[in-house]
Amino acid sequence: MKLSTPFQLGPFRLANRIVMPPLTRMRAGRADGAPSPLAAAYYGQRATEGGLIIAEATQISQQGQGYPQTPGIYTPDQVAAWRPVVQAVKKRGGIFFLQLWHVGRISHSSFQKDGGLPVAPSAIRPAGNAFTNEFKRVPHETPRALELNEIQRIVADYRKAAENAKQAGFDGIEIHAANGYLIQQFLEDKTNHRTDRYGGSIENRARLLFEVVDAVSEVWPIDRVGVRISPFSDVGDVADSDPTALYAFVVEGLAARGICFLDLIEARARAGLVDQTVRRQGL
Ligand SMILES: Cc1cc2nc3c(=O)[nH]c(=O)nc-3n(C[C@H](O)[C@H](O)[C@H](O)COP(=O)(O)O)c2cc1C
Repeated sequence: MKLSTPFQLGPFRLANRIVMPPLTRMRAGRADGAPSPLAAAYYGQRATEGGLIIAEATQISQQGQGYPQTPGIYTPDQVAAWRPVVQAVKKRGGIFFLQLWHVGRISHSSFQKDGGLPVAPSAIRPAGNAFTNEFKRVPHETPRALELNEIQRIVADYRKAAENAKQAGFDGIEIHAANGYLIQQFLEDKTNHRTDRYGGSIENRARLLFEVVDAVSEVWPIDRVGVRISPFSDVGDVADSDPTALYAFVVEGLAARGICFLDLIEARARAGLVDQTVRRQGL
């Protein structure tokens, strides 16, 4: 396959087959989660005519944040701050998607309202360390299992974040269902021990992902919605007893909905990679 030849991705004519993946930068405002003018410079520099960029993971709510200075897309100020970033990419003819993110149990109480515990499908503590809002690394806390009615709130947060991404001018969105964050915590049975309709069978564990995809596709045409998954990856201390059956079901459900693209991460990264990176960078 010729990397430099055009490719039709849903409604988008890509100039080539090279896509910039979502890369967390931790450069947003500390207090308000709004991307700074540096983000416009950064993405503008990387934009090319007909080139697809998927912007860094961006939390859909305060509850969904798990790293210091990552951006959000749930307040009017955040939406306003994303607009010039989008314009910098559009000015150069780039195609720009936003990755929507909820970290679930990978958060820390320092990010949560009133210092509450991070949330998860089940109260199971991940191995390894969390970031605090003060850039410290501390052992993960045991999260709080979400109540059934709170799950609908999270689906609504995704919908609202999708609406906000549209208002900010993005061309589409990617649902982050990879790397051990909330949606993958629901999908896999090491992290999901629920006994209600979000746990147990594969159908039940995949329910949150499909509800999120269906909710955001009320806001965006489905051919502008991508999904990222990382089957077989143990990042975030996730695992499943039958990943082939689980992800076959997931991929079939996403294909039936006609999503824009499926973004698959090869399971090369290992738990502990973040710690190694942090050590290297001296954080
Ligand atoms: C510093 C850094 C930040 C990353 N941030 C994100 C992110 O925000 N969202 C995400 O889905 N993946 C993130 N990743 C994973 C990359 O998008 C990518 O999948 C990874 O580097 C492996 O490349 P590959 O998927 O092409 O094999 C990050 C990786 C690195 C090194």
